[in-house]
Amino acid sequence: MLENNVILSIKGLNKTLGKKHILHDIDMECYGGEVFGFLGPNGAGKTTTIKIAVGLLNIDEGTIEICGYDVSKKFEQAMANVGGIVENPEMYKYLTGRENLRQYARMRGVEDEKRIDEVVNLVKLSNRIDEKVSKYSLGMRQRLGVAQALLHKPKLLVLDEPTNGLDPQGIKELRDVLKHIAHNDGVCVVVSSHLMSEMELMCDRVGIIANGKMIGTYSMEELTSRSNGSAAEYIIETDNAAKASELLSELFPCRVSENNDLVISVNIENEREEISRINAKLINSGFKLYTVHRTENKKLEDVFIELTGNKEGDGQIG
Ligand SMILES: Nc1ncnc2c1ncn2[C@@H]1O[C@H](COP(=O)(O)OP(=O)(O)OP(=O)(O)O)[C@@H](O)[C@H]1O
Ligand SMILES: [Mg+2]
Repeated sequence: MLENNVILSIKGLNKTLGKKHILHDIDMECYGGEVFGFLGPNGAGKTTTIKIAVGLLNIDEGTIEICGYDVSKKFEQAMANVGGIVENPEMYKYLTGRENLRQYARMRGVEDEKRIDEVVNLVKLSNRIDEKVSKYSLGMRQRLGVAQALLHKPKLLVLDEPTNGLDPQGIKELRDVLKHIAHNDGVCVVVSSHLMSEMELMCDRVGIIANGKMIGTYSMEELTSRSNGSAAEYIIETDNAAKASELLSELFPCRVSENNDLVISVNIENEREEISRINAKLINSGFKLYTVHRTENKKLEDVFIELTGNKEGDGQIG
């Protein structure tokens, strides 16, 4: 099972930079085969933790093990198992994507040319790989970065805010690539983000950090059930939201939104039955029903805000 397949283990990690105690007793375990989201508001300590995990910063106190190798004692063995992108991946702009990968492959001692094609296919960059990087879009550079990080077949892939600057299509494609790498190839993929809505679709579990402290680690299911308690909210687009709300208000809590849609809460215990009852009632009563959708993201975002103690109106950075 996943639990026995610990790839990244962080215990009691503390870090001070300058005079500031940035990380306080961070504990975290990530497994092979999962996409783990490292989630926290700006200034929470995500990049600092990741830099330490990929060997760019020293540990002050605590232990980190990668595939069982203690980073402080067996640095090279530990790092042989890590691929990562922290901040912008280093690329030579005047070289093509492929030449960049060859360069990096030499550096990491990867001799098999076929591996380059493999990673390029994996990130779906084959049709542009022989163009100069200076002609790449941000999303393409990001893919090249992931390809580069995967060249030496690391068991742990760590990406700091990989979706920054990507458009929704780019985010979806990256998400599919990362899930594939985790679920099909058994890699432990750790991605950081400050957006719960992104993590929701990408990750199997998330660890939440705020002000340099771990708040907890949760499976996506756990978070979802925390988010809506006993009710799920649906937005229904009809030809007459006010009348529809009147019709249904005896049976379900509902209201009309600013966009003039019907917003209705149903019990999650028998959510599917209730929503199909609502739809049938509306149609049988002569309403036109255009779209029905569940509002999940916003609520998960609320749980995140609640957990990180970042209450509305307090936009202070940690
Ligand atoms: N070299 C440094 N010297 C002093 N303080 C630092 C240094 N680097 C980071 N910090 C501080 O450490 C804290 C955590 O920073 P970090 O970059 O790890 O946060 P983050 O979670 O990655 O945030 P973001 O979402 O904005 O990327 C911040 O308060 C930051 O100002
Ligand atoms: Mg950061």
